[in-house]
Amino acid sequence: MPSKRRYALVGTGNRGTTMWGRDLLKGWSDHVDLVAIVDTNPLRAERARAMIGSDAPILTDLDAMLRGVRPDLVIVCTPDDTHDTIIVRALDAGADVIAEKPLATTPEKIARILEAERRSGRRVDVTFNYRFAPTPARIRELLASGEIGRLLSVDFHWYLDTSHGADYFRRWHAFRARSGSLFVHKATHHFDVLNWYLESDPEAVTTFAALKVYGGNGPFRGTRCKGCPHAARCRFHLDIGADPFLDALYEDPHGVDGYFRDACVFREDIDVPDTMVAAIRYANGVHVSYSLNTAMPVEGHHIAFNGTRGRIELRQYERQPWDKPDHDEILLVRSFPGDREAVERIAVPHFSGGHYGGDDRLRDMLFRPGATDPLGQRAGSRAGAISVLCGIAALESADSGRPVRLREYAGTAGIRGGIA
Ligand SMILES: NC(=O)c1ccc[n+]([C@@H]2O[C@H](COP(=O)([O-])OP(=O)(O)OC[C@H]3O[C@@H](n4cnc5c(N)ncnc54)[C@H](O)[C@@H]3O)[C@@H](O)[C@H]2O)c1
Repeated sequence: MPSKRRYALVGTGNRGTTMWGRDLLKGWSDHVDLVAIVDTNPLRAERARAMIGSDAPILTDLDAMLRGVRPDLVIVCTPDDTHDTIIVRALDAGADVIAEKPLATTPEKIARILEAERRSGRRVDVTFNYRFAPTPARIRELLASGEIGRLLSVDFHWYLDTSHGADYFRRWHAFRARSGSLFVHKATHHFDVLNWYLESDPEAVTTFAALKVYGGNGPFRGTRCKGCPHAARCRFHLDIGADPFLDALYEDPHGVDGYFRDACVFREDIDVPDTMVAAIRYANGVHVSYSLNTAMPVEGHHIAFNGTRGRIELRQYERQPWDKPDHDEILLVRSFPGDREAVERIAVPHFSGGHYGGDDRLRDMLFRPGATDPLGQRAGSRAGAISVLCGIAALESADSGRPVRLREYAGTAGIRGGIA
């Protein structure tokens, strides 16, 4: 049996503790061994270690861990603006890296990562789990089959509900300097899955975006939900004490670093848009209309691929105030059916686990020996970089009112061979 990969987990918030701690060790312990836990907040790391069920040592100093433990692999689950520094140090210490999305938040940070990857000869994987969910995989097969002819355009609209959407405004995600905005933090998933579906690079972006619900739009504000005098009338109030997981991981540990898990969504200094639309032109000529709304009564997305011979359409329901179907239904609609059915309804069952089973399949791809990749789902640093640059261009377009070409960033971001 091949030896286990010795990995260090850096960042023990929700994502690190569950996806890359507890759940990874539960399902893939024949292939991985957790040899160190690093977090700048030792109390959160201690709580996380108990939840993970590990006895790995806890360190607060990344470099000391890299020198002393010498892991094969470092999994980076810290806030987005810190990814680059951790990734570069890990690569330079001889480890491979799995980086949580987004890869980084600026072109300069991307360049540092790409350069370190080349210098070290190690590999960076980026966690684009959406590619691994069964429905996108089926859509990708349908696109490749040529059923709808030449692709003309895509309609892609993502809805976050008042629970999930609001959560980004309670934390560091609400600040451009930390997350690059939701065009980067959240839409990196969406832009990446588009790039993967279309097998092309985005070339230019035109956007409108504004902060319309959260931040200064609120009728009142406090510092955080706990103890807030407006709690009874605030529609976005989060009772952290009612969630034992969040309470243990964030409430006492906030005493160490001042990081509240339930900061006010109406803070005046919030500076990321919550309502975004974009038009994207791809290098292969496909046009995309995209939107992201963050305070909806529903959670899920709608995507349609419009081709010369038909259309592929999906409305994926994640949460809404009516019964959720137990499967996705992809519609394959033919413009010129002839003897064939004008519409084919393709049912894809929902799988358990995070991101409709995408999280499990991603871990299989990364850790099960002999995993194959016929659909090109495994994503490296270039995919991570291009999807982030699309988000950076989108924010710049919204700010400046001009169309922005991704090529403007290719040099600064160190993308060899350019974009497109
Ligand atoms: N792929 C997905 O679907 C998915 C889902 C959720 C989160 N994420 C990503 O995972 C990452 C973490 O998200 P989260 O919600 O767990 O965040 P979080 O804020 O809850 O946790 C981050 C942790 O990192 C620690 N930290 C901060 N700076 C550090 C540093 N320099 N060195 C070491 N530790 C440091 C913090 O103390 C905290 O414990 C983000 O990049 C996010 O985008 C991805």
